[in-house]
Amino acid sequence: MRTLRTAVIGCGDISPLHIDAIAQLPGAELVAVCDTDPGRRAQAAQDAGVPGTATLTETLERFSPDVVHLCTPHDQHADLAIEALAAGVEVLTEKPLASTLEDAGRIVDAAAAPGAPRIGVCFQNRYNTTVQEAHRVLTTGELGAPTGAAATVAWHRTPDYYRARPWRGTWAGSGGGLLINQAIHTLDLLQWLLGGVSAVAGCASTDVLGGTIEVEDTATATLTHPSGTHSVLLATNGAPTNLPVRIDIVCERGTLQIARELTVLPADGEPRVVVERAAPAGARSYWGASHTALISDFYAGHGSGEPFWISPAEALPALQALKAVYDSPRGFPDRPGAELDRDNPLRDV
Ligand SMILES: NC(=O)c1ccc[n+]([C@@H]2O[C@H](COP(=O)([O-])OP(=O)(O)OC[C@H]3O[C@@H](n4cnc5c(N)ncnc54)[C@H](O)[C@@H]3O)[C@@H](O)[C@H]2O)c1
Repeated sequence: MRTLRTAVIGCGDISPLHIDAIAQLPGAELVAVCDTDPGRRAQAAQDAGVPGTATLTETLERFSPDVVHLCTPHDQHADLAIEALAAGVEVLTEKPLASTLEDAGRIVDAAAAPGAPRIGVCFQNRYNTTVQEAHRVLTTGELGAPTGAAATVAWHRTPDYYRARPWRGTWAGSGGGLLINQAIHTLDLLQWLLGGVSAVAGCASTDVLGGTIEVEDTATATLTHPSGTHSVLLATNGAPTNLPVRIDIVCERGTLQIARELTVLPADGEPRVVVERAAPAGARSYWGASHTALISDFYAGHGSGEPFWISPAEALPALQALKAVYDSPRGFPDRPGAELDRDNPLRDV
């Protein structure tokens, strides 16, 4: 197979993880990095040793990539993804799928068009060794059917984290706060591990960073799964440090506990521990260790004619779930841009 030409669009905090993962792939070659910000563009181009471009359009015209990685703020994902797909280029976009459900729907439609290139969404935690094993146990029914789950995301974000990237604290730039930017991974895992989501209740508020951000920093969400079981998520960016994400899934014949490790606790047997893979150098602990695994798998499927399994449609339920929390009376129903999230089957009105 020929080497795939790749460009990374958006050269901020997460981009080095993508660039490093591409460098490890024998079948991929980074041909350009792109950023609208001249300083970040120049730095990234120097660090990666490839030319820098100012726009996706310029990148497509000058370098004809086969694949682009979208590492931009949330409000940019839809237009960039749709432009790349229309040019016949595969897309790997960072989460969330988009900042609004209207934009997310546009991506889902573009991805479903006949002959559309592949597009994947970076929910890398689905590749965690612990999560993969939990999914296997649940799918095989080893511990019986799940009867419910509880998860906590207790992380620490400072005012400087938001001041350094103002888009993160705004409804317009991010489409939300803690839920869309941090806890979305855990929402996605809950709905994936427990078989989807059919209803959502919750609340969201700005309890800690109110002077700095307009979006939420603290939230709860209760998901109802198609089986009728519930998962509860408690999440905050106001914890004093970044604690390990914890997910407990109770089944008929035992419990799965995911924290740093997975502990499988059969009701009538010995506990079994599954260790997580080590994070790559330079990665923040809370990003998890699985970007490289996801990126490698995305490239492995090139030319298969099959969609990438974490497709826009697959990434949509987590976004719908958190938007339903924002739309609840105890969320932010009157937030700027709320009308762009109205088309939501999980919205409780
Ligand atoms: N999967 C994860 O665990 C994880 C972790 C961190 C960030 N992310 C996601 O990665 C994305 C980027 O986050 P970040 O923290 O790196 O943001 P950032 O602000 O640090 O970087 C974004 C970069 O994109 C550039 N940019 C903005 N619009 C652009 C455009 N139209 N074309 C080209 N460049 C553009 C900005 O100038 C900036 O340099 C977000 O979607 C975020 O949610 C994912």
